[in-house]
Amino acid sequence: MKKFIAPSVLAADFANLQRDIEMINNSEAGWAHIDIMDGVFVPNISFGLPVTEAINKHSKKPLDVHLMIVQPERYLEAFKKAGAEVLSVHIEACPHLHRTLQQIRELGCKAGIAVNPHTPISALEEVIADADMVCLMSVNPGFGGQKFIENTYSKISRLKDLIIQKNSSALIEIDGGVNAQNARKLTDLGADVLVAGSFVFNSPDPLKTIAELQRSIQ
Ligand code: DX5
Ligand code: ZN
Repeated sequence: MKKFIAPSVLAADFANLQRDIEMINNSEAGWAHIDIMDGVFVPNISFGLPVTEAINKHSKKPLDVHLMIVQPERYLEAFKKAGAEVLSVHIEACPHLHRTLQQIRELGCKAGIAVNPHTPISALEEVIADADMVCLMSVNPGFGGQKFIENTYSKISRLKDLIIQKNSSALIEIDGGVNAQNARKLTDLGADVLVAGSFVFNSPDPLKTIAELQRSIQ
């Protein structure tokens, strides 16, 4: 499968959201990444269901919804209805992760497990077969524009080994601090999807930046 970029809407201009979603539509991005923060699981509040619905009205790219919320199982159906095609829940927020992943798949979405920087890959051993994606956090979740955590490189290799060992087809997504300097190294190690927020939206020409990132990982 072709490796691709998922621009993070968190870094878009919320007062010009339609314009920025259309930019993503016109770009080579594979998905649009949607960060949902509740101010409890993470120390920040982003946006929720009505904004996701509004994004979905304009987006031609699949919505990759990253739930940084406690008790995500309460909102899976609502986010599916709001347009999510991929739904990622945090392993640290799910005492019944196996059931939660099943619920996501039953809704017809791809089921992602998001993993905080401190959580070891070994925590995924018993559930990797039930996931369509693992979202490795390469920053502590809660804010865009943070510095990439270098330990992520070896974590990708450990995750890739686990995926092969368990015969899983889960994609590896990297979320946080992705830029032109680290993109190729991440995909060379086995990443399939690179989320990029501030590097894309803070650049003078986001469309061109997405194209350049995409070219760098081909
Ligand atoms: C962090 C979010 C990320 C963030 C990435 O909590 O999950 O998706 O938007 O932003 P950058 O690329 O600026 O690190
Ligand atoms: Zn995210």
